[in-house]
Amino acid sequence: MPTEEEQHRLNAGLAEVPRHVAVIMDGNGRWAAQRGKPRTWGHQEGARAVRAVVTRARELGVPWLTLYAFSAQNWRRPADEINALMALLIEFCQKERQLMMDKDIRLRVIGQRDRIPAPARFAAETVERATRDNRAMTLQIALSYGGREELVSAARQLVADALAGRIDPEDVDESALSARLWTAGAPDPDLVIRTSGELRVSNFLLWQIAYAEFVVDPRLWPDFGAADLDEALRTFAARERRFGAVRAPVR
Ligand code: FPP
Repeated sequence: MPTEEEQHRLNAGLAEVPRHVAVIMDGNGRWAAQRGKPRTWGHQEGARAVRAVVTRARELGVPWLTLYAFSAQNWRRPADEINALMALLIEFCQKERQLMMDKDIRLRVIGQRDRIPAPARFAAETVERATRDNRAMTLQIALSYGGREELVSAARQLVADALAGRIDPEDVDESALSARLWTAGAPDPDLVIRTSGELRVSNFLLWQIAYAEFVVDPRLWPDFGAADLDEALRTFAARERRFGAVRAPVR
C-alpha cells in the first residue's frame, strides 16, 4: 500500500519530489493592477496562494519549502504596503498555526529579524516555538531577507569567531560559512520557482542556489496554485542535474 504522500505523487505523475523547493512569489502588484485594485489586494490574494502551495507541498511530501515573502530591499516600498504585508503575515501565523500543527509543519523565519516590526516578529516567533518539534516539512519564510545581507552577516560571525579564537582561519570552508547563514541546517534548494515570468534572482539565497534548477512560470503569484506546483515539479523531474560533472551523479 502506498503512503498518502506516495499516492498524491503518483496521481500527480511524480516518481519523487525535490528535497527543497524555494519560491520567489512575484506579481501580486500586477495582478491587482490588472483588476484596477490596490497592490495590497494583490498581496491578500497572494496569501491565499501561499496557503494552497504550502498545503500541496506538504501533501506531496516536500521536506523543505522556502517562500520569499519580503526582501531586505522591500522596506523601500510605501508604508501602507509594508503595513499590509506585515498584517498578512500576522494573519497567516494566527490562522495557519493549527494547520501547521495538524500537518506536522515546522515554521522557520530567515532574514533580518531585528528589522521586522515587533507584532509581526512576535506572531512568527510564537508559531516557530509552537511548531519547533514538527518534522514532516519545514516551511521557511524569508522576511527582510537578502542573500548579500545574509553573507555579510555570516562573514561578520566568522571574523568574530576567528578573533575570539573559536575558529582557525585555516578551517574556514564552505561548511563553516553555511553554518553561519540564516538557513543553517537546511539542505540547499534543488529547485527555485519564480512566478510572473521574470528572469531574475533578486538577492534570493545567493549562496544556497549554486546548483539549483530554475523554473519560471508566467502566471502572476495569486494565480499560482496546487496544479502549477505539480507542473513545476514535473519539469524539474525531467531535468538532468550534473553538478559540474559530465554525467549526473548516481544518487
Ligand atoms: C511580489 O509581488 C510579492 C511580494 C513582495 C510579497 C509576497 C507576499 C505574499 C504572497 C503575501 C503574504 C505572505 C505570507 C507568507 C502570508 P510584487 O508586489 O513585487 O508584484 P509586482 O512585481 O507585480 O509589483
